[in-house]
Amino acid sequence: MPAAVSIGSYPEMGEVQSNEALDAADAAYDNGRGTWPTMSVADRIMCMQRFVAAMLERRAEVVNLLMWEIGKSAADSRKEFDRTVEYIRATIEALKDMDNAHSRFAVVEGTIGQVRRTPLGVVLCMGPYNYPLNETFCTLIPALLMGNTVVLKPPQYGTLLFEPLLEAFCDCFPPGVVNTIYAPSEIVVPRMLASGKINVLALIGSSRVADHLKKQHPKSHRLRAILGLDAKNAAIVMPDADLDLTVQECVAGALSFNGQRCTALKMLIVHRTIVDDFLQRLTHAVERLKIGMPWEDGVQITPLPGPHRTRFMSEALEDAYNKGARICNDGGGDFYGTLFRPAIVYPMREGMKLYREEQFGPLVPVMAFDDIEEALNYIVTSDHGQQVSVFGSDPVQIGALVDPLVYQVCRVNVNTQCQRGPDVFPFAGRKDSAEGTLSVSDALRAFSIRSMVATRASEPNKALLNAIVSGRHSAFINTDFIF
Ligand code: G3H
Repeated sequence: MPAAVSIGSYPEMGEVQSNEALDAADAAYDNGRGTWPTMSVADRIMCMQRFVAAMLERRAEVVNLLMWEIGKSAADSRKEFDRTVEYIRATIEALKDMDNAHSRFAVVEGTIGQVRRTPLGVVLCMGPYNYPLNETFCTLIPALLMGNTVVLKPPQYGTLLFEPLLEAFCDCFPPGVVNTIYAPSEIVVPRMLASGKINVLALIGSSRVADHLKKQHPKSHRLRAILGLDAKNAAIVMPDADLDLTVQECVAGALSFNGQRCTALKMLIVHRTIVDDFLQRLTHAVERLKIGMPWEDGVQITPLPGPHRTRFMSEALEDAYNKGARICNDGGGDFYGTLFRPAIVYPMREGMKLYREEQFGPLVPVMAFDDIEEALNYIVTSDHGQQVSVFGSDPVQIGALVDPLVYQVCRVNVNTQCQRGPDVFPFAGRKDSAEGTLSVSDALRAFSIRSMVATRASEPNKALLNAIVSGRHSAFINTDFIF
């Protein structure tokens, strides 16, 4: 086995430093009177534009660290960086639209009002290791743009890539607005919540951890939670599905980035009349995937983040095998170090670990159904409720399938794998899969609350408001338009 390569280090912090980070964020917010929350939206946007420019200058370093730290292919690491920059730009445009729409008074039933979105306070941002940059910034950037201050706790894998951006955070935002903490989550995070100083928990992680953390806050009703959690998205393949297309979408859906996507297809439910044909084609496609190191051209399967993950995959396979399933593809489940060959496992049955547990890795469980109610029942009885894919061509059947499914999950993909993007679409989940909705514009709402100024529409009050606006006496009461 080749020796591990050291790619960098980060300071090991603990409770003292997490207290300092939290206090700095709290002081910078200063009950909404800090420089950042009181800055005009136009000025905050200018800071963010400077940040994007500085971030772009460090693209190569961030991409390289992303690739080395989490084993994401070079191509996908570049994609993650670029998609994140696009997300920031789109969020800025959405904020301009939102602010401009509120840059006016409304007169209703003799009352004049101006409504604007205002920040919530201190946001704790915790992203996942599979999209450490993108998913962290999908909460951090809208949180900042809305005027909140932030404590950023990077994931265990996916920490070093933030280093090239620290200088930009420092240069582009006032002191205390962005604070990073590198420490084991279980030591510092419950403690930060228990302090009562966190107003928003933005976590992409497991529902078990989210439940535990929310309970730590002394006044849980004061804590807003924006959560992206567990998922086990299924694909339902009808007998009349175009199998070439279905297999192509299922392979991408189940195995992009080794299946380490919250949106990955984690259970394939195939009509029994076509399951053999489907398995044969799927096996063929999976055997053609290029396995290797993330910097190799065209590589599709890369190392997992640690031996604990290959162990989990092997145990899940052994459990399925012991309960009657087989591995359909040659060498499926073999591994060297943390490089794990994907395995197609069939037939899946209730009681197997892989039937319900989220594998978050290169295992493709397949089960057959005779009656569509069996497939629906799998989704209805699941604890997860993020997305589903349905493959087929009969409009009557697909239409009838979509209707019950939209009440179980938040996105039904027709003849298409599950995925988060495009980022302007709502990304949400039912049951244990999420709390809150993220999208370019929804995230701005998630990290803010509407506040308003109101007055009876009398002549003296109208004159007063006009004087405030024309004299620019308030940051909140204004009719400025941001271009
Ligand atoms: O891990 C969850 C990600 O948000 C998935 O995003 O569907 O674009 O890969 P994606």
